[in-house]
Amino acid sequence: MAVSYQPQISPSILSADFSRLGEQIASVEGAGCEVLHLDVMDGHYVPNLTFGPMLVKAIRKMTPLVLEAHLMISDPDKYLDNFISAGADIVLVHPSTCKSVADTLQKIKDTGVKSGLVVNPDEDLSMVEPYIELMDQLLIMSVYPGFGGQSFIPTATDGLVALLPTLQENGVLIEIDGGINQTTIGSLAQSGIQRFVAGSAVFNNSAPPDENFLRLLNLISQ
Ligand code: DX5
Ligand code: ZN
Repeated sequence: MAVSYQPQISPSILSADFSRLGEQIASVEGAGCEVLHLDVMDGHYVPNLTFGPMLVKAIRKMTPLVLEAHLMISDPDKYLDNFISAGADIVLVHPSTCKSVADTLQKIKDTGVKSGLVVNPDEDLSMVEPYIELMDQLLIMSVYPGFGGQSFIPTATDGLVALLPTLQENGVLIEIDGGINQTTIGSLAQSGIQRFVAGSAVFNNSAPPDENFLRLLNLISQ
């Protein structure tokens, strides 16, 4: 039986104009956005550096939206408490950064927030199978983590069809991140993916964030 759900766009603030971040977040919020994607990069696990818990705390004051923290950092266990007390509602980690994937997921869940694993394009989606019961969410990377504005890698979803029944039986939300835009999003509408992260396709100079958000949402809500 097909599982029904409302697809969501999760705007990544990585491409936002940080000099007017509050305004940009308010724009997508006004368009009905429910969840915001926060890309945390440490310059070590990925070559790029972004922000840490201080900005998550500031964003928490700006908006009631669900905040998902995508941690692209080495040894995330060290910082879990900081991100959670800053206001993250969902914490997503890359398995290869964890000393024990099960322990990290359990620690996140024990604090009462949602947990998830992130799989890179050169990793096999089936790697999450042993942890399904500890996961609320699976994030499929459709670019190599580190930068916004990269091209979508279609092979990232290889293996999703096989894993879909297990994910759905366990109520694991499926999300995709990287290269999602008006050209690529349509082909994923019937794939079982529920949440689509979009950075440069939402925050750009072509149109205001709310308009970009709604255009993307329309393409998957037919
Ligand atoms: C990349 C990040 C993405 C990024 C996506 O490492 O995880 O969330 O912001 O950017 P776009 O949507 O521009 O590919
Ligand atoms: Zn991300």
